[in-house]
Amino acid sequence: MRSTLVRQFGDPRQVIALVDGERVAPGPGEVEVALSLAAINPSDLIPVTGAYSARTTLPFVPGFEGFGTVTRVGGGVTSLKPGDRVVPIGASGLWQEYLLRPAEWCFTLPDDISETDAATCYVNPLTALQLIEALRAHFGALDRRRIGVTAAGSAIGGMLMKLLAGEGAKAIGIVRRQRSAERLASEVPGHVVLGDESRIPELRLDAIIDAVGGPFAGDLILRTLEPGGAFIQYGALSGVPVSHAVIQSRPDIRFSFLWLRTWVHSAGRLAIEAAFAKSFDGLRTGLFSSRIAEIYPLSQLGAALAHQADAGRDGKLLLDPRC
Ligand SMILES: NC(=O)c1ccc[n+]([C@@H]2O[C@H](COP(=O)([O-])OP(=O)(O)OC[C@H]3O[C@@H](n4cnc5c(N)ncnc54)[C@H](OP(=O)(O)O)[C@@H]3O)[C@@H](O)[C@H]2O)c1
Repeated sequence: MRSTLVRQFGDPRQVIALVDGERVAPGPGEVEVALSLAAINPSDLIPVTGAYSARTTLPFVPGFEGFGTVTRVGGGVTSLKPGDRVVPIGASGLWQEYLLRPAEWCFTLPDDISETDAATCYVNPLTALQLIEALRAHFGALDRRRIGVTAAGSAIGGMLMKLLAGEGAKAIGIVRRQRSAERLASEVPGHVVLGDESRIPELRLDAIIDAVGGPFAGDLILRTLEPGGAFIQYGALSGVPVSHAVIQSRPDIRFSFLWLRTWVHSAGRLAIEAAFAKSFDGLRTGLFSSRIAEIYPLSQLGAALAHQADAGRDGKLLLDPRC
């Protein structure tokens, strides 16, 4: 069975091995899923580096997002049958040909969701929905609130811009490259600015949804956030957290972190099903569509990971575990 394995932490391009895994029959309550496509997300690679080594057990198969077809069901499984298309969630392991997962962690895909949409229907759409909920919890209605979205050129950044516009908020996408600014301005509602010295002093924001961290986010917090505002961090693409000194210097701001994983493991199945229903609706209208740059056979994992690390990459990469 085609599979991948991380035996030690390090640079994903060096430590994720292609291996011949063992195909095992599903136990009670489990299903076997033949995976069709899996996404490569930043959140798949961060645990590989050892960033969360305290809660990551070696060895492990990476990959948190993708979909496939149920091939075998274990004893007691009545909710799923062979042939059902499902999104298995709740743990990593999707970068392989066959996956065992408890049936309760598999969510049925509607027939009209395309393969590429199915492969990207989970991590970013559900996180974007939770980020909007977190803003609503802080402000109530988001009407006319000025919300900054950093790394707005990312897949989730575009989703957030569209969701915020739908809430009546004034979304301000902050990007690091002119090329992304131009592309985003033509694709999403709201304003798009380059996050450089010429624009940051002009910004006045009620909240920031941040996936960059480090000095860049610190500067935004100090110079753009209005008193009573909110800063929600959900990523650290710069590789550096926001400094404690910055956080302590703004007691007038509510700081919080949002991790999809935490929500998923506490929300319960009904709430997750409701979130998936919104994701599927958003995929049908294009709200949650991700631009796909390329689909790589899993057997060409090395090329896929090199492309993922390329700063010029323009869209999501998918892996096809069938080849
Ligand atoms: N907390 C959670 O549960 C959760 C869930 C989903 C996603 N996330 C986080 O959300 C972030 C984006 O994920 P994604 O899947 O949307 O990524 P993606 O589509 O792969 O996009 C990454 C984009 O972010 C921009 N970027 C990268 N490094 C940057 C930096 N240092 N400063 C500014 N912009 C930078 C680049 O855009 P340009 O081309 O414009 O430079 C890059 O194309 C990641 O940090 C991810 O971990 C977190």
